Amino acid sequence: MSSLDQKNIMLDPQKLKNDFPIFKSHRTLTYLDSGATSLKPKAVIDKITEYYETYSANIHRGIYKISELASQEYEDTRIVVSTFIHSNRPEEVIFTRNATEGINLVASTIGSDTVSAGDEIVTTVMEHHANFVPWQQLAFATGADLKVIDINNNYELAITNDELQKAQNKSIDLKGVVTDRTKIFAVTLVSNVLGTINPVKEIIAAAKKINPHIITVVDAAQAVPHMQIDVQDLGCDFLVFSSHKMLGPTGVGVLWGRYGLFKKMSPYQYGGDMIRSVSISETTFAEAPHKFEAGTPHIAGVIGLKEAIKYLYHIGLKHIHAHEKDVASYAISRLNKEFGENIKIFGPSAIEYRSGIVSFQLEGIHPHDIAQILDEHDIAVRAGHHCAMPLHTALGVPATTRASFYIYNDEEDVERLIEGLKKVRNVFRGR
Ligand SMILES: Cc1ncc(COP(=O)(O)O)c(C=O)c1O
Repeated sequence: MSSLDQKNIMLDPQKLKNDFPIFKSHRTLTYLDSGATSLKPKAVIDKITEYYETYSANIHRGIYKISELASQEYEDTRIVVSTFIHSNRPEEVIFTRNATEGINLVASTIGSDTVSAGDEIVTTVMEHHANFVPWQQLAFATGADLKVIDINNNYELAITNDELQKAQNKSIDLKGVVTDRTKIFAVTLVSNVLGTINPVKEIIAAAKKINPHIITVVDAAQAVPHMQIDVQDLGCDFLVFSSHKMLGPTGVGVLWGRYGLFKKMSPYQYGGDMIRSVSISETTFAEAPHKFEAGTPHIAGVIGLKEAIKYLYHIGLKHIHAHEKDVASYAISRLNKEFGENIKIFGPSAIEYRSGIVSFQLEGIHPHDIAQILDEHDIAVRAGHHCAMPLHTALGVPATTRASFYIYNDEEDVERLIEGLKKVRNVFRGR
């Protein structure tokens, strides 16, 4: 029995692989790019097919059985998502196209209504472009200052405490970072490059201590698929994630927000399903969540997300998180052992502050070449800047190779990666 089996007997990746049809058509595939998008279990695919085959009507408008069933399945998903992230009420859950759209919605509604010249928007250098560019553009449009928090030598946010302070339980101090001019604080819960898990609860508490009116936005795209999230415990105002990274379909995202804020916010888009009444002289809008869901949504996708969440529940987020840490930890030690001084692994040294993402650089070999050669051996990794160019600038490298692990990965996949990388090294040795 391997060390992984001993720690997580509840999660058996080899058995779970049987649930993912892609492994039947690609029997030798080693998929290490779940950070980009996860694979989809048969239960999710079947649920989407069920909608199209048996009740593919539009929602919220048909006075007939299959439309009512579609509406019920769609609204049921809202309840399931709400419970999944410990929201106060289902009306706090807005379905979007993806995490990116959720952040853009917040930036262009409450963001542009709240921020003006001379104000501050605080974000971090660790952000995916989805949680960076909307704030940068809002700052440009309004004349606000964009403050960008750097990372420290251990690939954590520079505002978080060092190891010694953490051991002594010292709280985070944001003096000078957050001021009474700060209107927005946008931060990722988990970095999609470094795998760093940020102490977002403590960061938000520290920010609100200085300025209780601050609006906090959490990018949880790399967190919700992998660990239990409680929006109330985090204390944030908005939180976003994408279905496709958590075993669900593409084209669906979630924006969670405090209902009191949603009530005050103006709509993001105008059209059908988001109105209360329309006349030639005026329009009144529906309440949240419908106010923010203009037009026909991705009905099949939303219903598929419900099935994905059921699947995650079945395994248990606690087990998923523990399993990914084990695989990442194993990968880090194997990479270091095989490649020694020729490899640089990015991300916190303590595994407790990391998720299942391992980004690295092999000396003298471009990440694109690595990914291409690995692909010849059916190993899928991501290479490039991973939509985090400011972070790569801070790291001093243009690109990295990223292996991201999920429930269907285990030590065997890590060994295949190591073997693949040895082959990459052999190709370049001869040059
Ligand atoms: C941390 C993080 N935030 C946001 C996104 C954007 O997700 P989407 O493209 O689904 O909107 C990603 C996608 O990789 C991500 O990793």
